[in-house]
Amino acid sequence: MSVAASRRLLSPVRLGPYELRNRVVMAPMTRNRAGAGRAPTSAAVQYYEQRASAGLIVTEATHAVPAGVGYPNTPGIHTPEQIAAWRRVTEAVHARGARIFLQIWHTGRISHPSLQPDGALPVAPSPIAPPGQLYTGQGMAPFVTPRALELDELPGIVEGFAEGARHALAAGFDGVEIHGANGYLLDQFLRDGSNHRTDAYGGPVERRARLLLEVTEAVAGVLGAGRVGVRVSPRNPYNSMHDSNPAATFGYVARALNAIGPAYLHVTETRGGEERLVSPALRDAFDGTFIANGGYTQALAESALATEAADLVAFGVPFISNPDLPERFAVGAPLAPADRATFYGGDERGYVDYPRGVERQDGTLEPAA
Ligand code: PHB
Repeated sequence: MSVAASRRLLSPVRLGPYELRNRVVMAPMTRNRAGAGRAPTSAAVQYYEQRASAGLIVTEATHAVPAGVGYPNTPGIHTPEQIAAWRRVTEAVHARGARIFLQIWHTGRISHPSLQPDGALPVAPSPIAPPGQLYTGQGMAPFVTPRALELDELPGIVEGFAEGARHALAAGFDGVEIHGANGYLLDQFLRDGSNHRTDAYGGPVERRARLLLEVTEAVAGVLGAGRVGVRVSPRNPYNSMHDSNPAATFGYVARALNAIGPAYLHVTETRGGEERLVSPALRDAFDGTFIANGGYTQALAESALATEAADLVAFGVPFISNPDLPERFAVGAPLAPADRATFYGGDERGYVDYPRGVERQDGTLEPAA
């Protein structure tokens, strides 16, 4: 591969109304370190600021309404204090020249009464409990059978995402990524393993996709479609998810999104194994920018860009332990390994203490030892 072709990852690209300085995206990652009132802390400001050599940062998943929560110490964006705290994050990131989208989720059945307002049951498309247990903050507990959302509650779910988009604007975000992936509420509606409804939001894919499409339309109504992204995970079994035909389900989603015109579709899909990748078909079906994610290295990312399998590539784990990931890519510096023990929760260790390389006199990076 020529030098030019091998440097596409670090070349600028247009995303909606924005000119990104490179095609390296920091993937959304739950870190469970929100502070009092589930607001981002000053360490979170530092964490995102350290990683702002990315072209685009997508924040950790954030609930837009109190009932959207599903884990201890994840941040929200529904109180004035949370909005003010997020504003400090966006200002720090903008000062370093990156763009930042807020990822908004509703966790649906991946929650627990002990985390819900008034001890309520979590909600879902259908009353199907995921097998196993979850961490509630006071130890492990079995998942409960969620309450199926009534038809007349669904406009309220859509409105919750729109409210989150308004709050994201107030906090200075450049856009919003709608979390339609990884087994949370919108994905629970999309995939037929978790959606057994027989009304207008269940059954054939046109109905299972309706909630995600209505949410996307509502968020686009707030921000303009060019400032909206959608993330899906067609084959991820995480959170006990299954779909009988991921290619058909997510192919429909990708095509139907075109009518709304969000800036990007962000697909997380792990390569390897027997199953065929769904991503290439989604890339072809979707008219907007395509962000690929799932175990990419610099070389794999360059090859995906060279073959136009993706427009941008999102990196998760490498960004935890390499806050200056794009600079390291630029000089071919080695990547530091990430410590899994500090991924979720805890203090500043494993959060803001991964070293950045030191800049030499000539502007190149002296990788940190
Ligand atoms: C997690 O906390 O395990 C988690 C959160 C959000 C995701 C995936 C995993 O999208």
